[in-house]
Amino acid sequence: MELPRLEDLPALDGRRVLVRADFNVPLRDGAIEDDLRITSALPTLQWLRERGAAIVACSHLGRPKGAPDPKYSMRPVAQRLGEVLDVPVQLAPAVVGADVSAAAAALAPGDVLLLENLRFEPGETANDASFADALSALADVYVNDAFGASHRAHASIVGPPARVPSAAGRLLEREVFVLSGLLADPRRPFVGVLGGAKVSDKLAVIDALLERCDVILVGGAMAFTFLLAQGLTAGDSLVEPDFVDDCRRLLATDRVRIPVDVVIAREITSDTATRIVPASAIPRGWKGLDVGPETAASYADVISAAGTVLWNGPMGVFEVEPFAAGTRSVAEAVAACPGFTVVGGGDSAAAVRQMGLADRVDHVSTGGGASLELIEQGDLPGLEALRKSRG
Ligand code: 3PG
Repeated sequence: MELPRLEDLPALDGRRVLVRADFNVPLRDGAIEDDLRITSALPTLQWLRERGAAIVACSHLGRPKGAPDPKYSMRPVAQRLGEVLDVPVQLAPAVVGADVSAAAAALAPGDVLLLENLRFEPGETANDASFADALSALADVYVNDAFGASHRAHASIVGPPARVPSAAGRLLEREVFVLSGLLADPRRPFVGVLGGAKVSDKLAVIDALLERCDVILVGGAMAFTFLLAQGLTAGDSLVEPDFVDDCRRLLATDRVRIPVDVVIAREITSDTATRIVPASAIPRGWKGLDVGPETAASYADVISAAGTVLWNGPMGVFEVEPFAAGTRSVAEAVAACPGFTVVGGGDSAAAVRQMGLADRVDHVSTGGGASLELIEQGDLPGLEALRKSRG
C-alpha cells in the first residue's frame, strides 16, 4: 500500500510538525508498565528533529470521557518520552486553546511539546470539524505514526490530513508494510494462531485469515464456544452460545484446530487447585483457563514447521502463573520458528515481551485492534485519510 512518506513532506527546517502517536501505554498506579509504544515512535521523532522541525506530539491515553481527568494525564508519558529522546519534553496545559497555541508558537527547532490527552476533548472521538481545525492549526505539517489508533476515525487521525501536508511516520509505514505483505504473499505453510476471550471479537478476522492461512490454531476462552459447536459441554468456562453456529461453520472447513486438553480450575488465583482434563470432560463448577500440555505441544509442532506465523491473542490467562504454560509454549515455538513470524499487538505482544522473546520474533505489532482490522478490511481510516491527503 502506497502512503505518503516523510521524504514527501515540504522542507521542515523551522516548521512545526504535529505528530499523532499512539502513546496509549499500560499504566499501573500512575507508572508506565511497558514503554514499547513510546520507544517505537523514536525513529520518526528523531528524523524530524534532525531536519530542524519542532514537534507537537499528541496521543490519547485510556478512555477518559471527553473531559480532563488527572488519572489519564499525559504527564508520565511526557516524562518517559523526555528520557528516551534525551531532550526535555514540555507537557501542554490542555489539548487546544490559547495557552497551547502560544506554547506551540514558542517552540524552537528540535523542541518537543506533548499535548494533553486528546480524549480530554469531546471533539476527538466525535471527529468534530472545529476540533480538527484547532488541532491542525498548531502545526504546518502532520505525521501519523499512530498505527495502533489508525482504525479509529477520530479527529486527530482523519482530520489533519485533509487540512495540512501529511505523511506516514516510520512506525506506521513498517506496520502496514509487514502486515499487508504478510497477507499478500506469505511463505507456506501459513499458520494463524488466535486466542483471547471472545470468539465474537475474532470471527471476522478468522474468516479473513481462512482465505489465506493453511491452518488456524485456536486457544484462549474463545475455544470453548467451539467445544459447544462440537456438541460438547464446557463446564463453567466462558462461552458465547449465540456464536455456536459460526464456530460450527468454521470447524467444517477442517482448517481450524481447537484444544484437545485444557487446564481447569474453579477460580482464577495463583494458588488455586488446577487439573488437566480432555477438552471433552470439563466438569461443572470448573472453567478452562489454559490449553493443556498435549494441545500446547501439538500447536508448537505446527508452528515450528510454518513458513509464516501470525499470532494474536494468548492461549490462557497467562498473567496468572498456573495458566501461563500454554501461552509460554506458543511464544517459545514462535520465537524458535525459522519462518517469518508476526505477533499482533495487545496481550500476545505483552506476553512475548514479558517472556523476553520479542527479539526473536520478526515483527511485534504495536497495534492490537488496528492490526486485526487491517487484516479484516485490508485498510484503515487513518491510512485512507493519508492517501487522500492534500499532500
Ligand atoms: C489500542 O490500545 O488498541 C489503541 O491505542 C486504541 O485504543 P482504543 O481502543 O481506546 O481506541
